[in-house]
Amino acid sequence: MISFKDVSVKYPLGNIALHNINFTLEAGTFSYLVGPSGAGKTTILRLILGELLPSSGTVKVDSFQIGNKKFKDTAKLRQVIGVVFQDFKILAEKNIFENIAVGMYIKGFNKAHIQQEVIEALEVVGLPQKAHLFPAQLSAGELQRVAIARAIVGNRKIILADEPTGNLDPKTTWEIMKIFKNLEKEKTILFATHNTDIVNSMKRRVLVISDGQITKDKKKGGYEL
Ligand SMILES: Nc1ncnc2c1ncn2[C@@H]1O[C@H](COP(=O)(O)OP(=O)(O)OP(=O)(O)O)[C@@H](O)[C@H]1O
Ligand SMILES: [Mg+2]
Repeated sequence: MISFKDVSVKYPLGNIALHNINFTLEAGTFSYLVGPSGAGKTTILRLILGELLPSSGTVKVDSFQIGNKKFKDTAKLRQVIGVVFQDFKILAEKNIFENIAVGMYIKGFNKAHIQQEVIEALEVVGLPQKAHLFPAQLSAGELQRVAIARAIVGNRKIILADEPTGNLDPKTTWEIMKIFKNLEKEKTILFATHNTDIVNSMKRRVLVISDGQITKDKKKGGYEL
């Protein structure tokens, strides 16, 4: 579960990026976060990750409470959240297996468990044969599948996606959306995007953000510009 209560953010030297935001995402739901460039989408995701503290208000993520005082549990919080970025952020010098496993090593899972979960995750994203290849040997769509595999291993409950199809062609975009669709039963997913075709095809709840405020919350989905 993720919940924002009266959350505002003012960046140092910057304008107010979020004004008094309120919303709740129930566990095991998929929601879109849409809005123009600069609206505050990434700021919301950074708050959920504990990378950024609210200037006022409270962000609740699973059992964690993030307010404007120093937050000490960032490392533990990160263990329940997987993140998928537009530019993949896959480490070039590590092979695919190691890229997916990296958070599990940090969390202290034993080797056999890591092996099993990484292999399963590669099957979920449709790349069972690629574990020992290096990122330079994969296409962009395949790299995004690796990023999704990395986001789901290690019992993560929440997946944050920040414009994850922004660098992909339409066909690959739909393949990636199919993977998200298969994950939505098990995870809480917040998916930031500008792509209205996606939002209008796979209809789910839509939070619309504009100038740092939630201007619409469409439970039945769909979004017109
Ligand atoms: N580190 C920062 N310091 C100061 N201002 C910032 C910082 N990061 C973001 N901002 C400002 O906060 C506002 C919201 O930015 P944010 O990155 O959340 O937008 P976004 O909706 O993710 O945009 P995009 O679709 O382009 O990714 C913008 O006005 C931006 O300039
Ligand atoms: Mg952004």
